Amino acid sequence: MDDNKPPLVIAIASGKGGTGKSTLSISLAMALADLGRRVTVLDANFELPSIATLLNISPTYTITDLIEGRQSIRDVIYNGPQGINFILGSSLPKPMRELSTAHHFGIVNAFDTISKELDILIVDTAPGINSSTLNFVRASQEVLIVTTSEPVAIASANALIKTLHCSYNLQKFRILMNRVHDTYEGPKAFKTLEKLNFNNNEIFLTYAGHIHEHKSARNAASKGQVIYKMFPKSKFSQDMKTLSQKIDTWPIRETPRGHIEFFMDKLIGKGARTSDTNEEPIFNTPIT
Ligand SMILES: Nc1ncnc2c1ncn2[C@@H]1O[C@H](COP(=O)(O)OP(=O)(O)OP(=O)(O)O)[C@@H](O)[C@H]1O
Ligand SMILES: [Mg+2]
Repeated sequence: MDDNKPPLVIAIASGKGGTGKSTLSISLAMALADLGRRVTVLDANFELPSIATLLNISPTYTITDLIEGRQSIRDVIYNGPQGINFILGSSLPKPMRELSTAHHFGIVNAFDTISKELDILIVDTAPGINSSTLNFVRASQEVLIVTTSEPVAIASANALIKTLHCSYNLQKFRILMNRVHDTYEGPKAFKTLEKLNFNNNEIFLTYAGHIHEHKSARNAASKGQVIYKMFPKSKFSQDMKTLSQKIDTWPIRETPRGHIEFFMDKLIGKGARTSDTNEEPIFNTPIT
């Protein structure tokens, strides 16, 4: 990819917990790496970070070291399999969990310093409607909402979409249907979600695709193994390949979302301290 192009930042989000965001973030990163893309995965789930566990790795430094200014962005990068970089999470002490808006954008901004070295940043977020997830989604060019066809998951996905739209005027959402049992299940559940937004002509939902249920997913995760690598011929892995090829053709949005400088100006500049956060700028120490 072109070094001068800003990386594509994709937030992986869900209304309901446990829909498969972290599992899919890792496999998707690998599928994109197979296409020759330089990928970094950020574990932005401060409630329950799980990427390190899913990969069975123990990072020396985590996102907390970056947030607290002890380490630079480069120090907290873990060089994972297939040349994929990971910024791993750690459960933050309670007061730190409620990070300010400026902190969230600061984390994404820290990536600006390494942006020439990556094509795609996958941000695995915490489930539900919490400020952390909402901010990471706002900072990303693309949001991929992972849901299953279960009614509760669909309703929760819809609640997240509504909140992102009503609070931040986001309009475009891509929906990924996980754990399907056949090729009809995904589009059918997507239609249900569309119907819930039938009356709103400012919300645009796109069906990003589906990922089949894989019976060994749980077992693989408990061993720190990745389905996409373990079972490359499975429907799960084929779906993942299809998704990565689709992502490769997504047009670059002409919005400032994902263009980090925009947010830093807005949030860390005068506006940040007076409106959104009422706080001092992020990071006491340099983050580069
Ligand atoms: N396609 C799939 N087939 C079978 N099992 C799956 C699939 N995707 C995810 N799972 C299983 O679902 C469970 C939850 O997955 P995961 O931890 O990735 O979800 P999550 O959305 O990241 O959860 P959280 O909201 O807590 O962060 C795990 O046991 C995982 O193995
Ligand atoms: Mg997760």
